Amino acid sequence: MREFTPETITEAVLDQMSTTSDPRLREIMDSAVRHLHAFAREVNLKPHEWIAGIEFMTRVGQMCSPARQEFILLSDTLGLSTLVNTLHDGTAVEEATHTSLLGPFFRENTPTFEAGAQIARGAGQEEIVLFGRVTNSAGEAVPHAKVTVWQTAADGRYDLQANPDETDCRGIFSTDQNGVYLLRTVRPLGYYIPMDGPVGQLVSAQGRHGMRPAHIHFLISAPGFRELVTALYLAGDAHLEDDVVFGASGDLVVHERTGDPACPIGDLPSIRFDFSLSRESEADRLGGRVGADPSAIMAVAAE
Ligand code: BEZ
Ligand code: FE
Repeated sequence: MREFTPETITEAVLDQMSTTSDPRLREIMDSAVRHLHAFAREVNLKPHEWIAGIEFMTRVGQMCSPARQEFILLSDTLGLSTLVNTLHDGTAVEEATHTSLLGPFFRENTPTFEAGAQIARGAGQEEIVLFGRVTNSAGEAVPHAKVTVWQTAADGRYDLQANPDETDCRGIFSTDQNGVYLLRTVRPLGYYIPMDGPVGQLVSAQGRHGMRPAHIHFLISAPGFRELVTALYLAGDAHLEDDVVFGASGDLVVHERTGDPACPIGDLPSIRFDFSLSRESEADRLGGRVGADPSAIMAVAAE
């Protein structure tokens, strides 16, 4: 009869799991076990710390609902979501605009607008224009691309936080014949990630501030192209360098301009950003979104 030691237990588990018929499941679980065991050995994990970890994960699960995904928030704050995004970007068949986090405030239920429409109900003096082109990697226009935009209102809250029954500051637009998208919105504010759950407690215990810099989310799709999930980050925000979920990156930082002659709407302050899409590959058909509407995850979990 075998006796296990900290040195022999890992091989014993890998050996027992070697009957796994799905090769990708085997590869993932073998690696997960090797790294998990190495972590426990490295920190010399104590029983009370092990149970604290189990209790934490239990609280993370209890916090999940059709409106909130605490596991994704945990993944975001540990940089795992951005790691998976950057790995995914590396598999594109062509260099394209880089991915950023989908975040927990994306909703399938989003109204469609004509080009140039204002997406914010409370638009006032803070009105700004967003415009630019959607192109392929050769710089050629992608006409009729679907451009979904969502962001906080000028008070720094998403519609789902202010009034979940009303959509605000989100919309679906289409690019024109020249690949141009155009919309009006209000200047978003930076905000705290949800801090009232176990992930927020962990972030606080780590002495982290919990802030995201001001940003505008984009989801862009067109037949034959890899779906692009990204966000634009407003230059000058104090938290561009220490975004708590590691979404902000230099190539996605945008500058607001007043009097840009290229801006199609009057003399409002404007932000121009051109997005480039990679052609779709066979692998993209399996899905490339790091994130989901939380209600969709609950529906799968209930199956
Ligand atoms: C967001 O951008 O909406 C977001 C992303 C990750 C965690 C929390 C919020
Ligand atoms: Fe966001």
